[in-house]
Amino acid sequence: MKLTSKLVSALAMVLLAVPVAAAGNKITLGFAQVGAESEWRTANTESIKKAAAKDGIDLKFSDAQQKQENQIKAIRSYIAQKVDVIAFSPVVESGWDTVLMEAKAAHIPVILTDRAVDSKDKSLYVTFMGSDFVEEGRRAGNWLIGDLAKKGMTGPVDIVELQGTTGSAPAIDRQKGFAEVIASHTNLKVTRSQTGDFTRAKGKEVMEAFLKADPNIQVLFAHNDDMAIGAIQAIEEAGKKPGKDIIIVSIDGVKGAFEAMMAGKLNCSVECSPLLGEQLMAACKDIKAGKPLPKRIQTVEGVFPAEKAAAAFPSRQY
Ligand code: AHR
Repeated sequence: MKLTSKLVSALAMVLLAVPVAAAGNKITLGFAQVGAESEWRTANTESIKKAAAKDGIDLKFSDAQQKQENQIKAIRSYIAQKVDVIAFSPVVESGWDTVLMEAKAAHIPVILTDRAVDSKDKSLYVTFMGSDFVEEGRRAGNWLIGDLAKKGMTGPVDIVELQGTTGSAPAIDRQKGFAEVIASHTNLKVTRSQTGDFTRAKGKEVMEAFLKADPNIQVLFAHNDDMAIGAIQAIEEAGKKPGKDIIIVSIDGVKGAFEAMMAGKLNCSVECSPLLGEQLMAACKDIKAGKPLPKRIQTVEGVFPAEKAAAAFPSRQY
C-alpha cells in the first residue's frame, strides 16, 4: 500500500512537472502593431495572431493607433516584462535608436516586420522581414507606362499621388520607386501629391480637394488600396468614372481592391503581402534555438492588373 501511494505521488509529481517545464519553454513575443488603419493592417494582425496561436507562442499584442509614442511605450513595457522577443512594424522610419538600445541592453532581440527603421546601427535589430516598397513603387510606375502605351496616350499626362503616412517607409519608398521609373517619360508629371495617411476616409478627403483644384486629372497613384477606394468614392461623387475617366493604380492587393477591379473602378493593384505571421513565429523559434537569421527576409509578390482580377480573386487570402 505504502509503495503504491509513493508511486502514485511520484507519478503525480512527474505529471505536474511536465506542463511547468513546457510553460517555461514557451516563447513570449511582444508585438507592437502600427494600428488598424487599413484592410492590409487588419489582415496582418490576423496573420500574426493566428500564427502565434498555432505555434503555441505567448503573444502580447498592442495597437499604437498610428502613433510612434504609443509604439515606444509598448516596446518599453515589453522590455519591463522581459519578453523573449520584441517585434514591431514601425509607424515611421526615424526616432527608434533610444528604445532599440534599451532593448539591446536588456538582451531582448528585436525583429522588424513590414516596415524598416533608418537606424545606422544595424545591430539594434536581428532581422527585417517584409516587402521591398521601392520595388512596389517601380512596379506601379511600370504598369502605368505600359497601360498608357496600350491606350496610345503619348501626350502630357496629369498624375496625382496619394501618399501613405508621412515619414513611413512605405510612403517614402513607394514615392521614390514610382518617381524613378516615370522620370525618363517626360510627358508624365505628378502634379499633386499629398498624404492620405493610408486610410479610406483621408484618401477620399484629399481626392475631393484634388478634383476641385484640377478638373484634368488623368491618373491616380495611391500608395495603398484603401486610399484608392476612398478616392473612387470621391471621383464618383464628382460625376466621373473611376477606372475610365481616371486611371487608378494602387498597392496592397486586398480583397476590396479586387472587388473594385472586377467592378471596373480600379485598374491595377500591386501586391504587398501582409501574411507575415508564420515567418515571424519561425524567426522567433530560430532565435530561441540560437540559429542565425538573415538580416533581410524579403516577401515575394506580384502585380494584378484588372483583367486578371476575376481569375485571381477566389484564391486571395486577404
Ligand atoms: O506598411 C504597409 C502599408 O501599411 C500598407 O500598404 C498599408 O495599407 C498599410 O497601412
